[in-house]
Amino acid sequence: MDRAHLDLAPCGPLRGSLRVPGDKSVTHRGLMLLSLAQGEGRLFYPLKAGDTLSTARAFQALGAEILEEGPHFLVRGRGLRLREPEDVLDCGNAGTLMRLLLGLLAGQEGVFAVLTGDASLRRRPMGRVVEPLRRMGAQIEGREGGRRAPLAVRGAPLRGMAYTLPVPSAQVKSALLLAGLFAEGTTEVVEPVPTRDHTERLFRHFGLPLEVEGNRIRTRRTEPFPARDLLVPGDFSSAAFFLVAALLVPGSEVVVEGVGLNPTRTGLLRVLREMGAHLEWQVLEGEAGEPVGWVRARHSPLKGVSVDPALIPLMVDEVPILAAAAAWAEGETYIPNLGELRVKESDRVAAIAHNLRALGVEVEEGPDWLRIRGGGVRPGEVEPFHDHRIAMAFAVAGLPVGVRVFEPQWAEISYPGFFQDLKGLCAAS
Ligand code: S3P
Repeated sequence: MDRAHLDLAPCGPLRGSLRVPGDKSVTHRGLMLLSLAQGEGRLFYPLKAGDTLSTARAFQALGAEILEEGPHFLVRGRGLRLREPEDVLDCGNAGTLMRLLLGLLAGQEGVFAVLTGDASLRRRPMGRVVEPLRRMGAQIEGREGGRRAPLAVRGAPLRGMAYTLPVPSAQVKSALLLAGLFAEGTTEVVEPVPTRDHTERLFRHFGLPLEVEGNRIRTRRTEPFPARDLLVPGDFSSAAFFLVAALLVPGSEVVVEGVGLNPTRTGLLRVLREMGAHLEWQVLEGEAGEPVGWVRARHSPLKGVSVDPALIPLMVDEVPILAAAAAWAEGETYIPNLGELRVKESDRVAAIAHNLRALGVEVEEGPDWLRIRGGGVRPGEVEPFHDHRIAMAFAVAGLPVGVRVFEPQWAEISYPGFFQDLKGLCAAS
């Protein structure tokens, strides 16, 4: 049988402006905190895609009322007490959902829940949250001693602790801070390297206990807190595909509006500028503590760079699209510090190397690095490896010459309508 695929013709100049769907990280967290809040709150312009719909369904099963109001969500929260779900909670492909939910459920005394997910999520490491949560008193069992889903959690009394993150991970940090809301005493997370801080910003938005002192983040048990409306900015990670597409295709100029410009997310802008990209951006407002603005990208000849390893945690989801830019740059690009990419929705180091080769690009793959010889790509076939960001990044890499993308539906995990938006900008030329 023929595999599902999409053939993209070579794209002329991309011109125009667009808004991208809501931020995935903020949507997950917004749904979770509104489900815990007291009373009714609206999540405006959330992401409604595979991953975040898994979160909405999980919290409905935990007793929150989540209703669609046009593009928005109306959430009636539980006032801290979740209900025991009647069935297994299916986290689908969403690592953020599974890890944060483990933290939240750990302290829900009297609630038993089983968490599972798709084949990719069941392969991903969960020990990084289970192990510190157990030290706080959590009762969690699962496959491979609790290192892989399915996982069973029985809510238990928790005590706060100080914990230094062994790997830079906003998901682990957030899981522990959420558990800390139900723990006795103080929970402190120390981050040797900064990671996305959406959880901290939302704790402030909802008036939850939070102290940040340098790289130490503390919380403690919370009182019930009132719901507050929340506007979700556009997802910078989704915007990145169009920005790079505009850089690559001669004659292009694209503006992405209403996009989140949180500095813990925008490391890619710095790397692309160093590569010679014509990029401008401006923060116009803050929404729920998140800086929001516009970014403009114009076609630019790019040159290879050696990426600063400290920037990788600030662009961890943008490495595939950076690799697409590197493929078109003059000279070599070296991307270090990629250990974490091996345990994303796919092994992204291997997936990037595979797709670059499929498009005729020379690439060397190390255990946690990539060296990409730029100079352009030739038409070829993109294999997403069940990974939304790989599908979108390599569709962009092949855009100037035309490309076939297998299983393009994977994009819907974070961006339903991605290919229509992409074709729309090309067609507008
Ligand atoms: C996310 C954190 C990152 C990122 C993921 C979303 C979050 O994962 O890759 O797409 O919302 O906290 P890690 O915490 O594993 O780095």
